[in-house]
Amino acid sequence: MAKTGPNLYLVGFTGTGKSTVGRSVAQQLDYTFVDSDHEIERLQGRTITQIFAEAGEPEFRSLERNFILEQHPAQGCVVACGGGLVIPEGMLELLHARGVVLCLHANFETVIERTARSVHRPLVSGEDRETKVRELYARRAAIYRRAGTTILTDQRPIREITTHVLRVFQREARDWAAQHS
Ligand code: S3P
Repeated sequence: MAKTGPNLYLVGFTGTGKSTVGRSVAQQLDYTFVDSDHEIERLQGRTITQIFAEAGEPEFRSLERNFILEQHPAQGCVVACGGGLVIPEGMLELLHARGVVLCLHANFETVIERTARSVHRPLVSGEDRETKVRELYARRAAIYRRAGTTILTDQRPIREITTHVLRVFQREARDWAAQHS
Protein backbone atom coordinates (compact mmCIF):
# COMPACT_ATOMS: atom_id res chain seq x y z
CA MET A 1 0.00 0.00 0.00
CA ALA A 2 1.25 3.51 -0.81
CA LYS A 3 2.51 5.31 2.29
CA THR A 4 1.29 8.77 3.15
CA GLY A 5 2.78 11.82 4.88
CA PRO A 6 5.19 14.49 3.67
CA ASN A 7 8.47 13.24 2.29
CA LEU A 8 11.70 13.86 4.18
CA TYR A 9 14.71 14.94 2.11
CA LEU A 10 18.09 14.55 3.79
CA VAL A 11 20.65 16.80 2.15
CA GLY A 12 24.19 17.74 3.07
CA PHE A 13 27.77 17.21 2.05
CA THR A 14 29.14 13.83 1.07
CA GLY A 15 29.99 11.60 4.05
CA THR A 16 27.61 13.22 6.54
CA GLY A 17 25.59 10.03 7.07
CA LYS A 18 22.51 10.71 4.91
CA SER A 19 22.00 7.07 3.85
CA THR A 20 22.65 5.50 7.25
CA VAL A 21 20.49 8.02 9.08
CA GLY A 22 17.84 7.98 6.34
CA ARG A 23 17.43 4.22 6.52
CA SER A 24 17.06 4.32 10.28
CA VAL A 25 14.57 7.21 10.22
CA ALA A 26 12.50 5.55 7.46
CA GLN A 27 12.23 2.42 9.56
CA GLN A 28 10.94 4.38 12.55
CA LEU A 29 8.41 6.30 10.43
CA ASP A 30 7.39 3.20 8.48
CA TYR A 31 8.33 5.18 5.36
CA THR A 32 10.00 3.90 2.21
CA PHE A 33 13.72 4.65 2.06
CA VAL A 34 15.20 5.87 -1.23
CA ASP A 35 18.80 6.79 -1.97
CA SER A 36 19.05 9.12 -4.98
CA ASP A 37 22.48 7.80 -6.01
CA HIS A 38 21.31 4.17 -5.97
CA GLU A 39 18.09 4.96 -7.81
CA ILE A 40 19.93 6.86 -10.53
CA GLU A 41 22.42 4.03 -10.92
CA ARG A 42 19.57 1.52 -11.12
CA LEU A 43 17.55 3.55 -13.64
CA GLN A 44 20.64 4.23 -15.76
CA GLY A 45 22.10 0.75 -15.50
CA ARG A 46 25.54 2.28 -14.86
CA THR A 47 27.49 3.55 -11.88
CA ILE A 48 27.87 7.18 -10.87
CA THR A 49 31.55 6.99 -11.74
CA GLN A 50 30.62 5.81 -15.24
CA ILE A 51 28.01 8.56 -15.64
CA PHE A 52 30.54 11.23 -14.64
CA ALA A 53 33.20 9.74 -16.95
CA GLU A 54 30.95 9.14 -19.97
CA ALA A 55 28.46 12.00 -19.79
CA GLY A 56 29.93 14.53 -17.34
CA GLU A 57 28.69 16.25 -14.22
CA PRO A 58 25.98 18.40 -15.91
CA GLU A 59 24.30 15.24 -17.19
CA PHE A 60 24.41 13.70 -13.71
CA ARG A 61 22.82 16.87 -12.27
CA SER A 62 20.04 16.65 -14.82
CA LEU A 63 19.45 12.99 -13.86
CA GLU A 64 19.19 14.13 -10.24
CA ARG A 65 16.68 16.77 -11.24
CA ASN A 66 14.55 14.21 -13.14
CA PHE A 67 14.72 11.90 -10.16
CA ILE A 68 13.31 14.64 -7.91
CA LEU A 69 10.72 15.74 -10.46
CA GLU A 70 9.26 12.36 -11.33
CA GLN A 71 11.15 9.28 -10.22
CA HIS A 72 10.37 8.82 -6.54
CA PRO A 73 7.19 8.52 -4.46
CA ALA A 74 5.39 11.81 -3.78
CA GLN A 75 4.64 10.87 -0.18
CA GLY A 76 5.75 8.58 2.60
CA CYS A 77 9.39 8.39 1.74
CA VAL A 78 12.75 9.39 3.16
CA VAL A 79 15.16 10.41 0.42
CA ALA A 80 18.91 10.45 1.04
CA CYS A 81 20.02 13.02 -1.55
CA GLY A 82 23.45 12.88 -3.19
CA GLY A 83 25.66 15.64 -1.79
CA GLY A 84 25.46 17.88 -4.84
CA LEU A 85 21.77 17.37 -5.62
CA VAL A 86 20.62 20.46 -3.76
CA ILE A 87 23.30 22.75 -5.23
CA PRO A 88 22.09 23.72 -8.76
CA GLU A 89 19.77 26.68 -8.89
CA GLY A 90 16.14 25.83 -8.24
CA MET A 91 16.76 22.42 -6.66
CA LEU A 92 16.26 23.56 -3.09
CA GLU A 93 12.92 25.09 -4.03
CA LEU A 94 11.87 21.83 -5.75
CA LEU A 95 12.66 19.88 -2.59
CA HIS A 96 10.82 22.33 -0.34
CA ALA A 97 7.75 22.02 -2.55
CA ARG A 98 7.81 18.23 -2.07
CA GLY A 99 8.47 17.83 1.64
CA VAL A 100 10.60 18.66 4.65
CA VAL A 101 14.30 19.27 4.04
CA LEU A 102 16.87 18.64 6.76
CA CYS A 103 20.61 19.10 6.37
CA LEU A 104 23.12 16.72 7.96
CA HIS A 105 26.53 18.05 8.87
CA ALA A 106 29.82 16.43 9.91
CA ASN A 107 33.22 17.99 10.49
CA PHE A 108 36.03 17.84 7.97
CA GLU A 109 37.94 14.94 9.61
CA THR A 110 34.81 12.80 9.73
CA VAL A 111 34.04 13.45 6.08
CA ILE A 112 37.59 12.56 5.06
CA GLU A 113 37.46 9.35 7.06
CA ARG A 114 33.97 8.32 5.91
CA THR A 115 34.76 8.87 2.24
CA ALA A 116 38.20 7.25 2.27
CA ARG A 117 37.20 4.03 0.55
CA SER A 118 34.29 5.29 -1.44
CA VAL A 119 33.74 4.23 -5.05
CA HIS A 120 30.86 6.50 -6.10
CA ARG A 121 32.31 9.91 -5.34
CA PRO A 122 34.42 10.97 -8.31
CA LEU A 123 34.48 14.60 -7.14
CA VAL A 124 36.39 13.75 -3.98
CA SER A 125 38.50 10.78 -5.00
CA GLY A 126 41.98 10.37 -6.45
CA GLU A 127 44.94 12.65 -5.70
CA ASP A 128 44.82 15.26 -2.96
CA ARG A 129 41.39 14.39 -1.64
CA GLU A 130 41.62 16.73 1.30
CA THR A 131 42.03 19.80 -0.89
CA LYS A 132 39.16 18.66 -3.11
CA VAL A 133 36.89 18.17 -0.10
CA ARG A 134 37.79 21.57 1.36
CA GLU A 135 37.25 23.41 -1.92
CA LEU A 136 34.01 21.68 -2.75
CA TYR A 137 32.62 22.27 0.72
CA ALA A 138 33.63 25.93 0.69
CA ARG A 139 31.78 26.45 -2.62
CA ARG A 140 28.62 24.82 -1.25
CA ALA A 141 28.50 25.80 2.42
CA ALA A 142 26.12 28.74 1.98
CA ILE A 143 23.55 26.59 0.17
CA TYR A 144 23.68 23.82 2.77
CA ARG A 145 23.23 26.44 5.48
CA ARG A 146 20.00 27.73 4.01
CA ALA A 147 18.69 24.28 2.96
CA GLY A 148 16.92 23.44 6.22
CA THR A 149 17.48 22.70 9.89
CA THR A 150 21.03 21.39 10.36
CA ILE A 151 21.65 18.25 12.39
CA LEU A 152 25.14 17.28 13.49
CA THR A 153 26.16 13.64 12.99
CA ASP A 154 29.67 13.67 14.50
CA GLN A 155 30.43 11.25 17.30
CA ARG A 156 26.81 10.57 18.12
CA PRO A 157 25.25 7.14 18.14
CA ILE A 158 22.91 6.53 15.23
CA ARG A 159 20.00 6.04 17.64
CA GLU A 160 20.46 9.52 19.06
CA ILE A 161 20.73 11.12 15.61
CA THR A 162 17.61 9.22 14.50
CA THR A 163 15.63 10.50 17.51
CA HIS A 164 16.79 14.06 16.83
CA VAL A 165 15.86 13.86 13.12
CA LEU A 166 12.45 12.36 13.97
CA ARG A 167 11.69 15.11 16.45
CA VAL A 168 12.56 17.90 14.03
CA PHE A 169 10.83 16.15 11.14
CA GLN A 170 7.58 15.66 13.05
CA ARG A 171 7.44 19.32 13.98
CA GLU A 172 8.33 20.57 10.50
CA ALA A 173 6.04 18.06 8.77
CA ARG A 174 3.06 19.54 10.60
CA ASP A 175 3.97 23.05 9.41
CA TRP A 176 4.66 21.74 5.92
CA ALA A 177 1.28 19.96 5.73
CA ALA A 178 -0.53 23.06 7.00
CA GLN A 179 1.12 25.19 4.31
CA HIS A 180 0.43 22.71 1.52
CA SER A 181 -3.15 21.69 2.28
C1 S3P B 1 28.24 13.99 -4.99
C2 S3P B 1 27.97 13.20 -3.90
C3 S3P B 1 27.72 11.76 -4.01
C4 S3P B 1 27.23 11.40 -5.42
C5 S3P B 1 28.16 11.96 -6.47
C6 S3P B 1 28.27 13.48 -6.39
C7 S3P B 1 28.48 15.44 -4.79
O1 S3P B 1 26.75 11.35 -3.07
O2 S3P B 1 25.92 11.89 -5.65
O3 S3P B 1 29.42 11.39 -6.33
O4 S3P B 1 28.44 16.20 -5.77
O5 S3P B 1 28.71 15.84 -3.63
P1 S3P B 1 27.03 11.26 -1.47
O6 S3P B 1 26.58 12.55 -0.88
O7 S3P B 1 26.21 10.11 -1.04
O8 S3P B 1 28.49 11.04 -1.30
